[in-house]
Amino acid sequence: MAIISQKSTVSNTESIILLCEKNSSFNNYGLSKAEIDFIKIEISKKEKFFVCINQLNRYVFVQVIDSKKEKHQTLESLRRAANKMHSLVVEYKIENITIVDVENKTAKVLAFAEGFALSNYQFLKYKKDKKKEEYSLRSIFIVGKTITKTDADELNIVVDATNRTRTLVNEPANFLTATQLSKEFQKLGKEAGFNVEVFDKAKLKAMKMGGLLAVNLGSVDPPTFTIMEYKPKNAKNKHPIVLVGKGVVYDTGGLSLKPTPNSMDMMKCDMAGGAAVGGTLYAVAKAKLPIHVIGIVPATDNRPGGNAYVPGDIITMYNGLTVEMVNADAEGRMILADALVYAQKYKPQLVIDLATLTGAAVAAIGTSGIVAMGTADEKTKNELKESGNTVFERLAEMPFWDDFDEQIKSDVADMKNLGGSYAGSITAGKFLARYIDYPWMHLDIAGPAFLTTKDSYRIKGGTGVGVRLLFDFLKRK
Ligand code: BES
Ligand code: ZN
Ligand code: ZN
Repeated sequence: MAIISQKSTVSNTESIILLCEKNSSFNNYGLSKAEIDFIKIEISKKEKFFVCINQLNRYVFVQVIDSKKEKHQTLESLRRAANKMHSLVVEYKIENITIVDVENKTAKVLAFAEGFALSNYQFLKYKKDKKKEEYSLRSIFIVGKTITKTDADELNIVVDATNRTRTLVNEPANFLTATQLSKEFQKLGKEAGFNVEVFDKAKLKAMKMGGLLAVNLGSVDPPTFTIMEYKPKNAKNKHPIVLVGKGVVYDTGGLSLKPTPNSMDMMKCDMAGGAAVGGTLYAVAKAKLPIHVIGIVPATDNRPGGNAYVPGDIITMYNGLTVEMVNADAEGRMILADALVYAQKYKPQLVIDLATLTGAAVAAIGTSGIVAMGTADEKTKNELKESGNTVFERLAEMPFWDDFDEQIKSDVADMKNLGGSYAGSITAGKFLARYIDYPWMHLDIAGPAFLTTKDSYRIKGGTGVGVRLLFDFLKRK
């Protein structure tokens, strides 16, 4: 992983990336007239946006900004261009690189640096010969008249937080139990400076958190319930914003066992929502944003062990509502419901939950974006969507019509944990809506949380989706 920082000057002996436009001037960067002429001829060609000059003691890369119709598309094309360039930088075994903002395009240069840094992530913990596979790149410097130290530091924080989230998602279930996940949150809290409290199984029993305890019945490992709080003295909000994340450290489907291979293979990612909540708190606290934020992560594995809850069981949830469990694989909503009820005690201004909740969300929009729905006002929804576009973790809002409530009616309990054959992500959302009494958004990240094939800077495995989105959203508050 590489560290991003700002600096003020460029030397003629370090490898650089000139982020420029087709008509930029290339004097003052230690290039000869012949080299400058060559660059100009190359980039004057149609669809040619990239040139590399090998000056023997260093490389000079030229990247032309390819402006798209919309600003956020340009930003994304730069993150993607950075990923391509990152492969070259790694191939050339470059350790330090300086990105130069030739045309004072702050946001674009930061997006490029972001794509570059996110491309440098690796999960090598379990490789015996780490050194052999480790990328060379250690530092990314950004130089530009309009780029501040705060810009670079904030970017470094959010990339770091995203990468830590990716690591939590990539950790397998034989390391990352619910207990271990809560320990990881405690470590994040210590490092970034926010409070962490963990409820153990005995406490959860005393509190009657029926949903979380029911899912945990089939497991030999205890559940945890982690509460993270960042409350700076200069907080702008009177009532906190609460983030709730699904922390199913492994989802076998329980007694409604998932078939393997395919559907079970990547189910270590079923705590990606919880990881993103921890990652967001880490980023917010590190960057000292003036905002009161609380993160809640109910965690357990979902297994078909000895005492596992069985279809037909009726569970009394934390708020006393009853649920007829008809599918043990619809476990995410069971544990989230208790956490959403718990969130009520904060009288929150807004609650956002993140969860790898349904295959239906993947069926709807694949890995390209986040399926969203909820009861927050239009202004909040638009702000979230705007942040989603900016960081390119886009939101697709689903209708939240009353008709869908019909599908989760039960003959014997207040509701059942399964809807009909269609609109699965919405009926899951409708289930959650029974447990809220505040403005709320539900983000189903089942599609983009974990990739089985690389998509540019969103490399294979955990993507850390949600962290950049929520950080941007909270930063604008
Ligand atoms: N963890 C899964 C959802 C999921 C699917 C996450 C694919 C990531 C990728 C969730 O717990 C689940 O199993 N959902 C079921 C719900 C169904 C039984 C109502 C699903 O979507 O199939
Ligand atoms: Zn499931
Ligand atoms: Zn699940």
